[in-house]
Amino acid sequence: MRIERGCAKGFALIFIDACFKKPTPTAPVWLMRQAGRYLAEYRLTRAKAKNFIDFCRRSDLAAEATLQPIDILGVDAAIIFSDILVVPLEMGMKVEFAEGRGPVLPDPIRTRADINRLLSVAADTLEYVYDALKIVRRNLAADKALIGFAGSPWTLATYMIEGGGSKNYAIVKKMAYSDPALLHMILQKLSDVIGDYLLRQIDAGANAVQIFDSWGGALEKSAFFEFGWSYMKQIVSRIKMERADIPVILFGKGAGGYLEEIDGDFDVFSADWNTPLERAKKVLFDRYALQGNMEPARMYDKAAIEIGVREAARVMGGENGYIFNLGHGMQPDFNRGNAKFLVDFVHQIFAR
Ligand code: CP3
Repeated sequence: MRIERGCAKGFALIFIDACFKKPTPTAPVWLMRQAGRYLAEYRLTRAKAKNFIDFCRRSDLAAEATLQPIDILGVDAAIIFSDILVVPLEMGMKVEFAEGRGPVLPDPIRTRADINRLLSVAADTLEYVYDALKIVRRNLAADKALIGFAGSPWTLATYMIEGGGSKNYAIVKKMAYSDPALLHMILQKLSDVIGDYLLRQIDAGANAVQIFDSWGGALEKSAFFEFGWSYMKQIVSRIKMERADIPVILFGKGAGGYLEEIDGDFDVFSADWNTPLERAKKVLFDRYALQGNMEPARMYDKAAIEIGVREAARVMGGENGYIFNLGHGMQPDFNRGNAKFLVDFVHQIFAR
């Protein structure tokens, strides 16, 4: 990997400024899942590892994958290359990434005994993530931010209880309504580990952290707040108590229906693509910066990208506290040329 990036002092981190609603020369932009199979460079790096988990555990390779979108696309922030499922992995669960099938956890947790077996010291074993963050921060230009991340307790619990991805969340929802105390036990244990983990990522050099709640939208409103958002808020409060200088971003896939009740000490609300940006602005922008939320499928076509960016600029152009992103992650069949076009176009359209 190349390690020649100098860290010239005096550059502003426009990404961090936008998180704190300070003025920036243009809107910062990065893309969720910006490191991935749509980049040939990523596929080459991945081929050096035995499998996906080995890739996550190889700090040198993870650092290499993290830096690729910075060099190739010119995004304003790097997100550490890893996966949300390294947390259940280091809590002692078996996690497999079967090619083309998505993640599988063959021994799901279902009982109090299962939960008690989960290791609460997982943040200590995630040293390889902290090492990758240190390598990246050393090799990242001073005007680029480094984002650490974790999955939300609810999203991780769905994988750990269902045993993988799910269509209807039958098992975890059955637990929510028939034995909520059991589900709260696991959510609390996860929140403690995730809080430790994010604070350690900050110590290792993360300039901001994002919590991905990918499956909160599976829950009705009361359950969304009881099993989902309340734990996100708890983690945020803990981070803010220790590190008020670090922006915290919450991504809520499916949170769009519940915007009015959203609260917490976090800094940036990352809207999914189902949430009209205009509504998010009206309901949340007086309290939070906004990130998002172009429909990812617009990435298939340059004209569609232009329309998506112009629409975001119509709503958020000229405002302090806006970060351009997709409303969910990049996909393996997306085109790198279009991704580069998007980043340049955002910088151009939002320039002041
Ligand atoms: O944004 C980035 O570039 C950082 C890397 C990142 C990955 N996963 C790498 C990855 C991040 C932030 C994640 C988060 C993640 N992982 C989420 C939350 C975000 C979201 O999209 O909702 C979730 C739900 C997961 C779980 C997960 N990991 C799934 C469903 C899959 C399989 C999907 C697939 O395309 O096969 C993964 C594997 C994974 N994580 C890949 C990458 C690049 C693909 C693995 C490969 O290289 O084959």
